[in-house]
Amino acid sequence: MYQPVTGSTNDDALLAARSGAPHGSVFLADEQTAGRGRRGHHWLAAPGESLLFSVLLRPKLELAHVSALTLAVGLALRDAVGPLITALPELKWPNDLLVNKRKLAGVLVESQLQGEALQAVVVGVGLNVATREFQPEIAATATSLALLGATRLAPEPLLFELLDAIDARLDAYQSRGVAGILSELNAADALRGERVRVGETTGLGRGLDEQGCLLIEDEHERVHRVLSGTVELL
Ligand code: BTN
Repeated sequence: MYQPVTGSTNDDALLAARSGAPHGSVFLADEQTAGRGRRGHHWLAAPGESLLFSVLLRPKLELAHVSALTLAVGLALRDAVGPLITALPELKWPNDLLVNKRKLAGVLVESQLQGEALQAVVVGVGLNVATREFQPEIAATATSLALLGATRLAPEPLLFELLDAIDARLDAYQSRGVAGILSELNAADALRGERVRVGETTGLGRGLDEQGCLLIEDEHERVHRVLSGTVELL
């Protein structure tokens, strides 16, 4: 479903999920007035310059495995975007696609539950496509396909490539979980060997574990497992 303007495509997808919309329904907009990122952040995107979409999934997953689906979707974005640019896209745990340490895309996975039972999962993606000048709040940290020299910027083919990649990664994730993508996640990890802070924990990024948790080694060589949080690159 395409709308020129909406509040948030994730909200549209969650609403549709409650009315029984099927697996694979896609919600797309040129502009969001209440675009959301993780942990209550706003997702800022100038109208018509980004791909802003959400896919409604009804996956065969235990609730406990939903949050690491974000990692599989990150790899899907990397699969689709990698061939369009010469620089190497990396993943900043848990949900950012970075190029040259700047954010090219973000993923927001949200679940719809009935009691303890998972009814639907919404995968929201914001990909900076044609933007050449970002809003001041993100100007120092964001990048776009256009700024990275991509020449294929037409939104429709790009959307289909992203959807295909998400579909393929979902299939693999449903059958093999994080273990099936762990080596790729670690190879794509933008935080490996970098000094990072998450909450109270500061240290060097040491990759991800089999549950998709981030590992940080502190100054006493103690390795901390981070289940959730926002990582600051120091
Ligand atoms: C993040 O980086 O924190 C995640 C950003 C996800 C943004 C996308 S844009 C399409 C979809 N609708 C939303 O409201 N958010 C996601």
